[in-house]
Amino acid sequence: MPAQLLDGNTLSKKLRAEITARAAIVTAKGVRPGLAVIVIGDNPASQVYVRNKVKACEDVGFYSVLERYPAELGEDELLARIALLNADPKIHGILVQLPLPDHIATERVLEAIAPEKDVDGFHIANAGALMVGHPEFKPCTPYGCMKMLESIDYPIRGARAVIVGASNIVGKPMAMLLLQAGATVTICNSKTRDLAHHTKDADILVVATGKPKMISGDMVKNGSVVIDVGINRLPDGKLCGDVDFDAAKYIAGWITPVPGGVGPMTITMLLMNTLEAAEKAVKK
Ligand code: GUN
Repeated sequence: MPAQLLDGNTLSKKLRAEITARAAIVTAKGVRPGLAVIVIGDNPASQVYVRNKVKACEDVGFYSVLERYPAELGEDELLARIALLNADPKIHGILVQLPLPDHIATERVLEAIAPEKDVDGFHIANAGALMVGHPEFKPCTPYGCMKMLESIDYPIRGARAVIVGASNIVGKPMAMLLLQAGATVTICNSKTRDLAHHTKDADILVVATGKPKMISGDMVKNGSVVIDVGINRLPDGKLCGDVDFDAAKYIAGWITPVPGGVGPMTITMLLMNTLEAAEKAVKK
């Protein structure tokens, strides 16, 4: 029997209805959740992602601003812009779309965002808080993956989780969240020997490598949960994940489609983090 789909669109719809309702409550108290999105350069994928993020804000009743800058923007100019947004009471979340052009030091930019407005959860203070088990903002993609596991009541405690990809955006925070939920976690990277040996043992397999269909069906454990974070465009224009979906779906118990799996959940959790930042601003 083919795997059950972990449908990110359906779950997002449900969560966004909750976000819309909570946004209306804080707005009535005079704090309309506000997100600023900054994108630098003309990376086509980044342009699509930021448009989708701003559109999602509109749909749930948030205030949002999209700031587009040319690839030549200086680092100091970007830092000055972030300082203004840090001080702007209409803005509760600031997101600088990555990757940045090479002449801009990503770390300096991420550290410049006020931690209480860092809805990506990338500031070192937020990454550290997650590491010690008291996250303020969980990075949106891993947060979305956890929500998907929650939606099927998956027994994470004691499960074997394998993450392929060790990035700061997905792999490492994903490992922390699964570890804190009681999983036994392995993080694989591009140098891992005999990757299949690890992946075949995974009750929960999370793949975030950016390599189209690199996980074949025979690398997946029977009945497991396969969460595919990859979004790759093939030469024929079609999108595909990092997992060979058509093969893995006959082996896994649950699997995320691409598109329509993790992608919409990432945006939904960005909305959730922005809402929570605004809710904290009300309480102040
Ligand atoms: N680039 C790819 N994923 C992300 C993300 O979650 N946040 C930001 N800011 N940039 C990204």
